[in-house]
Amino acid sequence: MKLVYQTSIQSAPELLIIPLFLDQQIEQELKKYILAPKLISLIKQDFENKPGATHLAYTNNPLFPRLLLVGLGSIKQFDLAAWRQAVQTAIMGSARLGVGSVALLLPKKSKPTPQFIELTAFAAVFGSYSFKQYKHEQEEKAQELKTAMLIGNVSPAQANQALARGVIIGNATNQARSLANHPGNVATPQHLATHARQIAKLYNFTCRVLNEAQIEKEKLGLLKAVSLGSNEEPRFIILEYGNKKAPPVVLIGKGLTFDSGGISIKPADRMEEMKYDMAGGATVLGVFEAVTQLKLPVHLVGLIPAAENLASGQAVKPGDIIISHAGLSVEVINTDAEGRMVLADAISFAKKYYTPRLLIDYATLTGAVVIALGNELTGYFSNAKSLEPLITNASEKTGEGLWPLPLLPSYEQQLKSSVADIKNTGDRGEAGAITGALFLKKFVGDEPWVHFDIAGTAWTIKPRPYLPVGATGWGVYLTIKFLQSLIK
Ligand code: BES
Ligand code: ZN
Ligand code: ZN
Repeated sequence: MKLVYQTSIQSAPELLIIPLFLDQQIEQELKKYILAPKLISLIKQDFENKPGATHLAYTNNPLFPRLLLVGLGSIKQFDLAAWRQAVQTAIMGSARLGVGSVALLLPKKSKPTPQFIELTAFAAVFGSYSFKQYKHEQEEKAQELKTAMLIGNVSPAQANQALARGVIIGNATNQARSLANHPGNVATPQHLATHARQIAKLYNFTCRVLNEAQIEKEKLGLLKAVSLGSNEEPRFIILEYGNKKAPPVVLIGKGLTFDSGGISIKPADRMEEMKYDMAGGATVLGVFEAVTQLKLPVHLVGLIPAAENLASGQAVKPGDIIISHAGLSVEVINTDAEGRMVLADAISFAKKYYTPRLLIDYATLTGAVVIALGNELTGYFSNAKSLEPLITNASEKTGEGLWPLPLLPSYEQQLKSSVADIKNTGDRGEAGAITGALFLKKFVGDEPWVHFDIAGTAWTIKPRPYLPVGATGWGVYLTIKFLQSLIK
């Protein structure tokens, strides 16, 4: 889809999208596009202006035969998250209608800021995404949505840069979604590594991949242990961009291309969703795609421990004790708590080879965080209080919800093992998201660190008007905003 910015509608779109505030004079706005007053009053009657509500109307104006009204609710409660959803709803709705071109009016009231335009472009690109690669019998649709025109009242000179940024970040997010949407038989650790190499070449950053022998040589014992049950070899993907003299921000993404639970096997019901267990790794790749195209002045390192967690005669077993990269011995109580194991090795690898200014990890780590916060909030943990306002701020700009959770020191006791330095699970049914994070913290030590548990937000199985089923690319946009605020 091509996205352009204009200050007025220059060619008739197949569909005109009109966002409306509750407190706005609807007649005044519609008069510009609808010639018959009777039609306007009918539309006004039928359209229920609630946030997210849409109304499709046909007119007798040959220039604007089809309108899509989008409810924004009261202007007092309007925020960027609501706008993002409205744009995604409108664009997804247009794609369903099978129109080839749309014009989207930016809401009136105030001059759009660059961030507003960037987010609009992001949401339009995000909303135009669908994952249909394996569907040979396509639904009947007139055509693809080819062009979207954003119509606003600031000069193109002001708008176009913001628009271009939004497009880059939107496309990078969609790439992360595609990577995660591929099934486990395609998106193997090797596939992640190949994809990483390709985008590194394309966007000019460095990529190194450790194979199984090198993983062994590096003593990444936990990563190796997690992959033992699978015929797919593990990979350790290392990305780097920017000025190598400055201490880097290190991004770590969980790359479990399928998580059956291993010997501590998961129930069959919904196990297929565990193809998304590499969504954290996909987020890191998406961030690299965007950061390198935006040329952000930051030294960035990306680490993706990638493996498949299966059960077999070779698999790691409950009770096994594994020596981690850091040298700490880990008692495996539950082979399904594998994410923290591979991340722990990546964290100590980061500390050994880089002097991180900050560590950030993205992981579909615990079912417990889904129970605590559901599908709309990522649980995040940090030992660096000063970063919290930057993270919250980034989240408000991108509409990616999150909520802080505590690293309660007294719960560390739950991870005490009688035979090893630490065990990989806490007490059953007690603060599972926190003990997962505390396990990681043992390897992080005092380095500034943020942990995003995206188990509830990285994909959805409930389709919504603004979000299709599948991977969401959670964290790509938020990380860009966060890095920008860190650079300032
Ligand atoms: N990948 C799962 C976490 C998960 C569960 C993500 C549901 C998305 C939806 C992770 O590897 C896992 O299985 N964690 C265990 C940990 C437990 C054994 C301590 C869990 O949450 O049950
Ligand atoms: Zn697991
Ligand atoms: Zn997992």
